[in-house]
Amino acid sequence: MPAQTPALPAPAWTMPGYLEARRGGHLHINGADALELIREYGSPLYVFSKPRIRANIARLKLAAASVDRPVKFCYASKANSNMAVLAAVREAGIDLEVNSGGELFKALRAGFRPDQIIFNGTSKSDDELDEAVRAGIYSINVDSVYEIELVEAAARRVGERANITLRLVPEIGTRSHIGLQTALLTSKFGITSSEVPGAFRRALAHPELIHVGGIHIHIGSQTPDVEPFADAFKMMWEHLVALHRETGHTLEHINLGGGIPVNYLRDRSQAGGLPAAERDMLGADLEPSEVLAAALRVARESARATDAEHLLDRVTILLEPGRSVIADAGLVLTTVRNIKRRPETGDVWLLTDAGFNLLLSMTTYKWYYHLISASRADAPADAEYKVAGPLCDSGDVYFDIEGASRLPDYRKLPADVRPGEVLALLNSGAYSLAQAFPYNGRPLPAAVMVREGGRAQLVRRRDTYEDLLAGDIW
Ligand SMILES: Cc1ncc(COP(=O)(O)O)c(C=O)c1O
Repeated sequence: MPAQTPALPAPAWTMPGYLEARRGGHLHINGADALELIREYGSPLYVFSKPRIRANIARLKLAAASVDRPVKFCYASKANSNMAVLAAVREAGIDLEVNSGGELFKALRAGFRPDQIIFNGTSKSDDELDEAVRAGIYSINVDSVYEIELVEAAARRVGERANITLRLVPEIGTRSHIGLQTALLTSKFGITSSEVPGAFRRALAHPELIHVGGIHIHIGSQTPDVEPFADAFKMMWEHLVALHRETGHTLEHINLGGGIPVNYLRDRSQAGGLPAAERDMLGADLEPSEVLAAALRVARESARATDAEHLLDRVTILLEPGRSVIADAGLVLTTVRNIKRRPETGDVWLLTDAGFNLLLSMTTYKWYYHLISASRADAPADAEYKVAGPLCDSGDVYFDIEGASRLPDYRKLPADVRPGEVLALLNSGAYSLAQAFPYNGRPLPAAVMVREGGRAQLVRRRDTYEDLLAGDIW
């Protein structure tokens, strides 16, 4: 009998049925060949997976079913507001969080009903507030005591009552990046605990203009631990009870914000050199059911102790997940365009067509996106390369130029990568296309949505050179 070569184990980044090395060793996304996508739609290319979006939302709904209060999920559209992504979210049956008049416009155009929409933001304009009040959305999340007056003025102008929620900044730290923490007193967000009683009194002063429906905290993004969520929920719960005792007003919802983490280190083969705190944060695996259970446990205990269970029994819990819906449902395909070997260091440099113009957080937060070869996805990744994007900026590199090792110094790919090879940056569906910009006159890329059975559909056309001129007047 001929000797059989044992099959190599699937790479650790594999997600069966979704991300796999298949025929010819090419990366496949729900059965769609990454190289064929590049041939058809060009490089670089954003690729999103509808089945994965659906699976991520199903996981959230399953978590909701495990607790005894109703849960309303409002997908944070800032993570990715491509219209096809919004449509997929709506079809999967959850609601929406927006952060500007533009996102509100997109939400309504994507078919979300006003009662499915909540509106956050620190600096809303009068026009944006008018649009939100006129649309009659579920909640305008008010970020300061001053903003209460702005909403009242909008309600007067529009002649409709506004639904509002107060956003708190509770001084709760997390183990995420400082730029992604939003519940510290040093952060720009929200109303402090000491201001809350006065803010509620002020908001309740004109019930003909404002309906006060809830209380809100967002502790930040990519929060690896359950405790900050539980602390935040407890604090909001205590404010809810205090408000009821003082005024008789009962809040209908408690909004725990977003921040459920995504595991960016499913494949840890290149993460060994990262600082331990960075690894803990990027590799967090926190189930949404744990977050909900912990939050409700502390609230239930407190409600029992204070004889307020009847109030808890009237509360709907809101969550605003962004990253956990779309991050691992997207990737960026990029092509190696140039190569150089530095004689002094021996480093081989690969220059791709995707830089921080497409993945801003790679430079702002030194965010780790696992890089693989899409052309040879099944080949051992045992050669080291310096990898960089196309921008005229020394910071446009896939390593930590500040030398703090928050990204690996070298990326591991198969031996002998040549120009023309297609690479894939995994887990890059969140805060990527939404933050992309045309620096250096680089038109924004196309995006495709892959559906069941590997059918890909263009969901964003590639910008043209003419698009680069579209806003200019000369
Ligand atoms: C108010 C608010 N809600 C929700 C989110 C979504 O967070 P994530 O994408 O981490 O779930 C954000 C983003 O940081 C936010 O600012």
